[in-house]
Amino acid sequence: MIRLPKIIYLKSLVIGTIISISCNTIQESASLGSYSIMVPQQQQKIVQKSPNPDEGKAVFLKYCMPCHQKDGSGVPSMFPPVRKSDWVNGDKKKIISVILNGLEGEINVNGEIYSQVMPKQDYLSNKQIAQVLSYLRLNLGNKSDSVTVKEVITIRKK
Ligand code: HEC
Repeated sequence: MIRLPKIIYLKSLVIGTIISISCNTIQESASLGSYSIMVPQQQQKIVQKSPNPDEGKAVFLKYCMPCHQKDGSGVPSMFPPVRKSDWVNGDKKKIISVILNGLEGEINVNGEIYSQVMPKQDYLSNKQIAQVLSYLRLNLGNKSDSVTVKEVITIRKK
């Protein structure tokens, strides 16, 4: 007789929690629903203007990460950083050329000297190069504008 109210109390507590959790879930999925309708339209506009940063990230992880590392910080005295790099934020023509023609000899990146060889990555399409360089210039601590396919084509023709 004494225990009964406690059990009832506990039961209503559990049921109450379940109801409030399921209400939250419904609310979240409802708001997610309207969000997912809006996003594709916004994305379409962005994609038309500049390369898709997600695709640029995929290119980076596949072709550049083995040397420059996932977070772009490189390997001391072996591979220079593309994170917060004065090269990446610098002249677009120069970095497009690094991808298309490779790079060797002494270079200075953020005050550190590297003298290694980067093999050319000219098997990448113009679009992939624009995507990966745009990803780098807009991410990993870099703050510059994106690189267009047209700019890559101009350097490849030279
Ligand atoms: C096999 C290793 C290797 C791969 C793969 C590689 N790089 Fe490099 N990268 C280097 C090395 C080494 C240098 C410096 C060359 C030197 O010392 O002259 C360099 C230099 C650079 C530079 C100029 C310096 C700096 O750190 O900002 C950029 C930009 C760059 N790489 C971007 C890329 C991108 C983008 C990719 C992928 C498409 C890539 N690299 C793939 C090894 C690599």
